[in-house]
Amino acid sequence: MLAVIGGSGLTQLANLEVDRREVVRTPYGDPSGALTFGRIGTQGVVFIARHGYGHTIPPHLVNYRANIWALVQAAKATRIVSVASVGSIRRDLTPGSLLIPHQIIDYTWGRESTFFQGGDGQVVHVDFTHPYSEGVRAELLRAAEAAGESVGEGGVYAATQGPRLETAAEIDRLERDGADIVGMTGMPEAVLARELEVPYAALCVVANWAAGRGDSSDGIRFHELEGVLEESLGRVRNVLAGLCSDEFCPS
Ligand code: HPA
Repeated sequence: MLAVIGGSGLTQLANLEVDRREVVRTPYGDPSGALTFGRIGTQGVVFIARHGYGHTIPPHLVNYRANIWALVQAAKATRIVSVASVGSIRRDLTPGSLLIPHQIIDYTWGRESTFFQGGDGQVVHVDFTHPYSEGVRAELLRAAEAAGESVGEGGVYAATQGPRLETAAEIDRLERDGADIVGMTGMPEAVLARELEVPYAALCVVANWAAGRGDSSDGIRFHELEGVLEESLGRVRNVLAGLCSDEFCPS
């Protein structure tokens, strides 16, 4: 079963035929909301809105462990696609573009970022050299191509703490570090999926120029980004529909 984690603007999947909603309790507390089970085409999909269905949970307070645990252990997801809005640091990545990153730099702090707390006498150091699943990335790219949607391949995702946006100097630093895009939710979500050994990849929607760049040189008015997101999320839905076609979802 494919799991989709919806980010800002994507609190529901218009092309998901909903069968049922299920409230799941986890050993790590409550997920962001009920899981929505349904179908895109003939394929089973489970969906959760990362920030809650009313978009009430800020990035630093999302219960990432509960969300991933619920999708994997309760819903039995076998692959996860995370949809996330980002700011663009790279000049050729204009707002409205879609991108499938291949690397992460984690600048977040104070988040519950592991299932392995050492309590059972086990110390686990999970391999994270390649943080995203190459398999799911490749499927997303092929699905995008089949759906006629142009999607950028590869990029370094900088995960910042939020909820505030970055300063222009922080964005300069992220660029020097090698980051292409910046968002607040990519971690620890990706590593938690890795810990539970479920293939995970992100489909990022560029909502704005990062602070100090392009038309954000004087500031970012976050509420003005909704129009960009709305249009791009239609394209995200097309990619997800492609991913659920028989070619990519062998039943
Ligand atoms: N910075 C961090 N997170 C974001 C941004 C940004 O500019 N845009 C969308 N999510």
